[in-house]
Amino acid sequence: MTNPLAPRLDGRVAVITGAGSGIGRATALRFASEGANVVCVDLDETSGKAVADEVGGMFIQADVTNEDAVRAMYAAAVTEYGSVDIAFNNAGISPPEDDSILTTGLEAWRRVQEVNLTSVYLCCKYAIPHMQRQGKGSIINTASFVAVMGAATSQISYSASKGGVLAMSRELGVQFAREGIRVNALCPGPVNTPLLQELFAKDPERAARRLIHIPLGRFAEPSEIAAAVAFLASDDSSFMTANTFLVDGGISGAYVTPE
Ligand SMILES: NC(=O)c1ccc[n+]([C@@H]2O[C@H](COP(=O)([O-])OP(=O)(O)OC[C@H]3O[C@@H](n4cnc5c(N)ncnc54)[C@H](O)[C@@H]3O)[C@@H](O)[C@H]2O)c1
Repeated sequence: MTNPLAPRLDGRVAVITGAGSGIGRATALRFASEGANVVCVDLDETSGKAVADEVGGMFIQADVTNEDAVRAMYAAAVTEYGSVDIAFNNAGISPPEDDSILTTGLEAWRRVQEVNLTSVYLCCKYAIPHMQRQGKGSIINTASFVAVMGAATSQISYSASKGGVLAMSRELGVQFAREGIRVNALCPGPVNTPLLQELFAKDPERAARRLIHIPLGRFAEPSEIAAAVAFLASDDSSFMTANTFLVDGGISGAYVTPE
């Protein structure tokens, strides 16, 4: 019988994009605490390296929109640690120029699609062949609750990109299921990260407009999202693939919320 208290990710190799901040950083800490070798990928050298040092892992500076860089980062993980068992494709942006469809320009639209959606396409494209060779792997792609719900406070390219991540994850989960590769989409609700704090600290009314829709009455902490990612990464979720995994404080299930 397996010991339920054994670290679930002992010896597994996890590549995390956007590991320098927020959800990526919290997940790097969580994965390491569960025994994984963590490869921290980020565009930002200072923060990415700091997290890699914190978890005793490897740092790779890469722009996840760059095909060569993405191919090379999985190759580097294999060279260093021997496999790619977990790919957490998490890097994403949410710039203020991405707003209503009526005001969002093509350049802002394209940039968000590149970083949020094309990057996930590239990461899956180059992680999967390693997992095929191993006959095993878990891919977690960060979508968002906005992939399944509409907001009047629009960020049109962001929402469309996350819808794409959700559909792509489902399709890959189905295609590669019988090769032992699981692909799930993580859909967090609003998370208390620097980005969100910056946005709402300045404007409590904007925060209140969102909090009213969350049954649990607060934003998530990054560690709560990391716990869900660790579950999807581990064999505890061995019968889950092609799934829309909502970790949203109840938003998507709510009509009227508690006062
Ligand atoms: N924070 C939320 O409320 C929330 C909610 C739902 C989904 N998400 C999603 O979760 C993911 C992580 O969000 P977060 O809040 O932790 O963000 P964050 O801004 O705190 O961290 C994102 C990290 O990605 C890196 N990054 C950005 N562009 C990159 C690129 N081209 N190549 C490599 N690295 C790059 C950044 O340097 C940063 O370290 C994103 O995909 C985001 O859309 C966030």
